Amino acid sequence: MSALWTAEEVVKATDGVCAGAWTASGVCIDSRKVKAGDLFIALQGPNFDGHAFALKALEQGAAVAIVHSAIPDSGSYHNRMVMVKDTFAALQNIATTSRARTKAKIIAVTGSVGKTGTKEALKLGLSILGKTHATEGNLNNHWGVPLSLARMPADAAFGVFELGMNHAGEIAPLSKMVRPHAAIITTVEAAHLEYFNSVTEIADEKGAIMAGLEPGGTIVLPRDNAHYPRLLAAAKTYGVTKTVGFGTSGDSIARLVSWSLTPHGTQVCAEFDGERITYDMIVSGRHWALNSVAAIAAARAIGADFHRAAGALAKLEAPEGRGKRYRVPVEGGTILVIDESYNASPAAVRVLAETLAQMHQPVGGTRSGRLMVVLGDMLELGNAAAMLHAGLALSLKAAQIDTVFTAGPLMENLHTALPQPMRGGHAKDSQALIPLVTAAVRAGDVIAIKGSHSSHMELVVAALLALANNHGSGRAANGH
Ligand SMILES: Nc1ncnc2c1ncn2[C@@H]1O[C@H](COP(=O)(O)OP(=O)(O)OP(=O)(O)O)[C@@H](O)[C@H]1O
Ligand SMILES: [Mg+2]
Repeated sequence: MSALWTAEEVVKATDGVCAGAWTASGVCIDSRKVKAGDLFIALQGPNFDGHAFALKALEQGAAVAIVHSAIPDSGSYHNRMVMVKDTFAALQNIATTSRARTKAKIIAVTGSVGKTGTKEALKLGLSILGKTHATEGNLNNHWGVPLSLARMPADAAFGVFELGMNHAGEIAPLSKMVRPHAAIITTVEAAHLEYFNSVTEIADEKGAIMAGLEPGGTIVLPRDNAHYPRLLAAAKTYGVTKTVGFGTSGDSIARLVSWSLTPHGTQVCAEFDGERITYDMIVSGRHWALNSVAAIAAARAIGADFHRAAGALAKLEAPEGRGKRYRVPVEGGTILVIDESYNASPAAVRVLAETLAQMHQPVGGTRSGRLMVVLGDMLELGNAAAMLHAGLALSLKAAQIDTVFTAGPLMENLHTALPQPMRGGHAKDSQALIPLVTAAVRAGDVIAIKGSHSSHMELVVAALLALANNHGSGRAANGH
């Protein structure tokens, strides 16, 4: 295992005190996930204090623990403790040191939706060009970002970081820590709206990613978004001169020319400064097409070979709950289950409807049966929540969705806004909705399930996949 951090580097970065010499191969803040050789940082949160788990982390093989108060009975680990003033500041200092020592080209991604998807596309696209370090999962907040930076190997060629926020003022400090050479704002939409008065305020907060851009850096902006002019104006204010609009608008520098569903995913045709490329992905949908164009635009902005990066997207897989597809055998054939249970926002449901609308066309020779969506409450939408739920009826009608099932008090607004023939059924929560959905599906149907994480729509997905058990020796398989 190569050393990620040495004692000397960490002591210097954190202004800490440590008697021993050691090297660490990873960084961890959760004692349950500690791996041998990790640098464990005992963070103090609102619910837990990592100091209570520092000894356990060391016993589990952590190379060292960073603490800011003495740990009782830790005598034998004396040489493997770094005493600092404040462990959270220590994490930030290690992150800043990591950024200072790297020669990697860095890309940061923010936006109301599509951050993780875009980040995954970049990770895959850049990995074939050089050693690439990227945010793991969704670690995009005030501790996730420094943790991700602290984990970046010194010899990485590329770094990709997801930056998220819930409150105003959170993005700028994260971006200043990451100091990207290129940054992407995927979209500006009504999502994570709870602590904001308007979507315009959200646009300004996303725009703050430009505060950390390296001099001469590029900002990749959503050209089709209503807030694009505002973001462009913000670029001026931040002194950013290189802007790349991505989207379907004719004047997008990175333009999504067309996308189509294939039997295996999505085929994309896009133009970058007029240079046309075509590539395939095994993920499906309009949002993947858009996110991939943004990712390629950023790769191109940092001077990477974007043709090769685009080619690598053929292996892009949908992260858990974000569009994974399953073929489930049922009587008389199969159903296609699209698992989008990881999260939901109005923009994400609209893009799902647009993707499903494409499935009215035969894909690979087989025409789908009915199109069904199963929706759980979308959270964090503040005062506008009821209206935003009811408002989905328009997009679902436009996409000619056959049947809509809804779960939760907020989704009741959608249920009542739908025309009677589209109403599949409503229940108070996802568990109660299961029997209505499983009784309704039949061979040939396409069923997409979506909702905010805490709406637990994954229970409906599990119930649909379990239908395979009732059908001979059938098993749900990955499928399109
Ligand atoms: N460009 C897009 N436009 C609209 N919806 C999108 C777009 N990209 C992704 N989505 C939707 O948002 C969902 C979540 O995608 P993803 O996890 O990439 O977003 P995120 O911004 O990382 O979310 P979070 O705020 O939870 O980190 C997807 O499953 C999809 O439904
Ligand atoms: Mg994310």
